[in-house]
Amino acid sequence: MSRAEGMKLITIVGARPQFIKAAAVMRATQEFNKKEKRIREILVHTGQHYDYLMDKVFFEELDLPKPDYHLGVGSGSHARQTGMMLERIEAVLQKEKPHVVMVYGDTNSTLAGALATAKLNIPVAHVEAGLRSYNRNMPEEMNRLLTDHLSSLLFCPTDQSIRNLLKEGIKDREGAVVKKVGDVMYDSILYYSRLAEKRSTILQEIGIFAHNYYLATLHRAENTDNPKRLRSILKALNEIGRNTPIVLPLHPRTKKMIETYHLFPKFKNIKLIEPVSYLNMLKLEKNATAILTDSGGVQKEAYWLKVPCFTLREETEWVETIKSGWNVLVGTGVERIVKEVNHTERRRRYPKGKGVFGDGEASQKIVQILIRHFG
Ligand code: UD1
Ligand code: UDP
Repeated sequence: MSRAEGMKLITIVGARPQFIKAAAVMRATQEFNKKEKRIREILVHTGQHYDYLMDKVFFEELDLPKPDYHLGVGSGSHARQTGMMLERIEAVLQKEKPHVVMVYGDTNSTLAGALATAKLNIPVAHVEAGLRSYNRNMPEEMNRLLTDHLSSLLFCPTDQSIRNLLKEGIKDREGAVVKKVGDVMYDSILYYSRLAEKRSTILQEIGIFAHNYYLATLHRAENTDNPKRLRSILKALNEIGRNTPIVLPLHPRTKKMIETYHLFPKFKNIKLIEPVSYLNMLKLEKNATAILTDSGGVQKEAYWLKVPCFTLREETEWVETIKSGWNVLVGTGVERIVKEVNHTERRRRYPKGKGVFGDGEASQKIVQILIRHFG
């Protein structure tokens, strides 16, 4: 495909949050194509997530097209999973010869996509660039760092993410284009949250009442793969669940670890459910008394939906939610978690200040910038 015919864009996804992010941008490319038909988007799914409730349910609900290439990589150690992705992505790139490849976030699919692409001297566009937790023990931190340094177009969600890149010498210059566009997950929540409120029947299905339950999510490797920490977090959730129901849609990683450590029978006050679809998740988040999570995306969604959030970590890359006072880092110790949650009401005033995560049009901005450079 020559430039005169338009832009050939390959989008690489593989894990749950990437389906949600890519759906927002793909909606914008489709809108653009209705008028100008200049983007040919090819969707590559690495296969990192594959259970129906971690994968297909998002394609169905968010109207994502069937992937043009499914690489079927599945689970494995970091090296094995990333290595298999590298090899299979390279083959697709050699065949398709795109003008640009877009990757999202900070998973192994992100890094493999960026590395395979950059080595073929094809420009990489990174959505959610510049995020840093400054905790190098997290696999995600390595993935983000390396991906940013391999990228030509860096789409940043916030001012802080731009500053983080500047500190590492990555700035708007020849060879790298750094732009604050806002957060594509914010675009997504604006589009879907009312729909979720109307369509989702999850509260009735699981027998809970609006504003009378806590919602928790837990999947970060540093929490789930450390038995002491996992037990401690579950103990805290169980304690909170004594008085008010606490719902935990269980990530398969966490489920596996709970089984491995025989923890299932021990925490009877936690309502464990299967992972839920995006609309069901938005409904659960919106109507919760508060959210406890170690997820990156869920921290932001709590902020946007104005639901108090407690983050089960010692640091976060989404520092704006903490600085505003809306999100609180509570770590993984039982006492601290329970104490903070019990003090929810006293402390809360929703922050003023608009536009921290953009104006809800990050996806459209990304498309415009891509067209300017490759269209
Ligand atoms: C990955 C990302 C993490 C992201 C998360 C989103 C990396 C290093 N981590 O973590 O940044 O926040 O996705 O949810 O890329 N499994 C299944 N079925 C599935 C998928 C996974 O059973 O469909 C199980 C397997 O036992 C697997 C484990 O979960 O070994 C972990 O999966 P993996 O994709 O390696 O990492 P996540 O924990 O999902
Ligand atoms: N999510 C979902 N169902 C669930 C848990 C999460 O749809 O059971 C959504 C959530 O609303 C957010 C995204 O998945 O949009 C976050 O993904 P996850 O927590 O898996 O990864 P992270 O954001 O930490 O990388």
